[in-house]
Amino acid sequence: MGSNTLTITDNRTGKKYEVPIKEGTIKATDLRQIKTGEDDFGVMTYDPAFMNTAACRSAITYIDGDKGILEYRGYPIEQLAEKSTYLETAYLLVYGELPTATQLSEWQYNITHHTFINENLKGVLDAFRYNAHPMGILIAMISAMGTFYPEAKNIFDAEIRQRQIYRLVAKMITIAGFSYRHMMGMPKVYPDNDLSYPGNFLNMMFKTTELKYQPNRALERALEVLFILHADHEQNCSTSAMRVIGSSQVDPYSAVAGAAAALYGPLHGGANEQVIRMLTEIGSKQNIPAFIKKVEAGEGVKLMGFGHRVYKNYDPRAKIIKRVAYEVFEVNGTNPLLDIALELERIALEDDYFIKRKLYPNVDFYSGLIYQAMKFPMDMFPVLFAIPRVSGWLAQWQEMLEDPDQKISRPRQIYVGAKRRDFVPIERRK
Ligand code: CMC
Repeated sequence: MGSNTLTITDNRTGKKYEVPIKEGTIKATDLRQIKTGEDDFGVMTYDPAFMNTAACRSAITYIDGDKGILEYRGYPIEQLAEKSTYLETAYLLVYGELPTATQLSEWQYNITHHTFINENLKGVLDAFRYNAHPMGILIAMISAMGTFYPEAKNIFDAEIRQRQIYRLVAKMITIAGFSYRHMMGMPKVYPDNDLSYPGNFLNMMFKTTELKYQPNRALERALEVLFILHADHEQNCSTSAMRVIGSSQVDPYSAVAGAAAALYGPLHGGANEQVIRMLTEIGSKQNIPAFIKKVEAGEGVKLMGFGHRVYKNYDPRAKIIKRVAYEVFEVNGTNPLLDIALELERIALEDDYFIKRKLYPNVDFYSGLIYQAMKFPMDMFPVLFAIPRVSGWLAQWQEMLEDPDQKISRPRQIYVGAKRRDFVPIERRK
């Protein structure tokens, strides 16, 4: 085997350069030495949307998109979904190892005892109209919450950082539950510390007149699994936003609010909502072929819940979700859109357009169907994604802060605008 280097010949100058290859990667800054003269800035890489650029080294989540493999800290997602809880998985993501029994009970205690939000924050919530999208509320509330904890700015103090991690993981379910109740015009339900994390969330969403809310065990477990599946997904759009914002050394509440905003978009965490809208619009199985034709014609119509930047195979989360869906349907009855979804998947997986582009169902294809069967309104779907993803964002943020390679994020650009010209007074402009 040859050396771990890449030899580049610059045909403009005839010069040769040798750059090291480490972990299958060359450093973009190594290309800067390739110049045509003293005034030349040096060669850059152009990679909009980061199609082939690693922005960090990470030890948190591993994905093999061709094989459909997803692992958190080396543990296969299938095993975590079967055997773990969301809080245990969140601990694993944040600290790198599965907790011992004592570590887990301390972690659970600390999360459970940070679920209350300051009463003044309810004033922020009350300022929203009844029909405000709960994701918009969530983003604003997380950002507002940061102002209650000015100590959070001390991001290099590990103890203070840890406290913000407890607070952010804990208070997500309270903010989410309160936003839903605001939307419904119902009184807020306060956290119940006897319940599990997903059970407590269901309590804050759905408790009515009962003295003690008891979540349905199957639904509580289904939500637990959904939270595990959504906890992290390496350098996706919102996680990259978290890292980029965090790289300015801002407090974690501001960074999480920005990450949540990135998640809100229909190509990311908003896709599950779009899947239900799409299935509703298709309306019945016989309309599927016509819909597929529209997608293939490239008329701006996408098969939502299909395709992924990294997975070129079945998203392993989608497989687990499909199974969980049936468990939820057994309790709450099936979702009438399921038949359309199954048929749509069957047809798409046999269709040349989708085969050629390696488009498979992603996590969002079935998650919306489950959420709907669990009686969550569509507007809450991206919020359900954001709740567990906070642990992934925080793990990635912490890793970034401790990584000596990292600096403030600041991409380069290729300037393609007007050349220098003189200002024209308004009366002389055409
Ligand atoms: N329906 C129809 N065509 C598609 C789809 C789709 N859902 N996804 C990709 N394509 C086509 C795309 O038009 C392109 O075709 P062509 O080569 O002829 O131009 C080709 O497949 C490659 O797609 P791409 O847009 O270059 O792929 P990308 O990596 O930039 O985009 C994606 C990934 C997830 C944004 C995209 O697949 C998509 O928009 N899917 C629908 C939205 C969705 O389900 N999002 C949830 C993603 S999973 C959860 C999460 O991470 O948030």
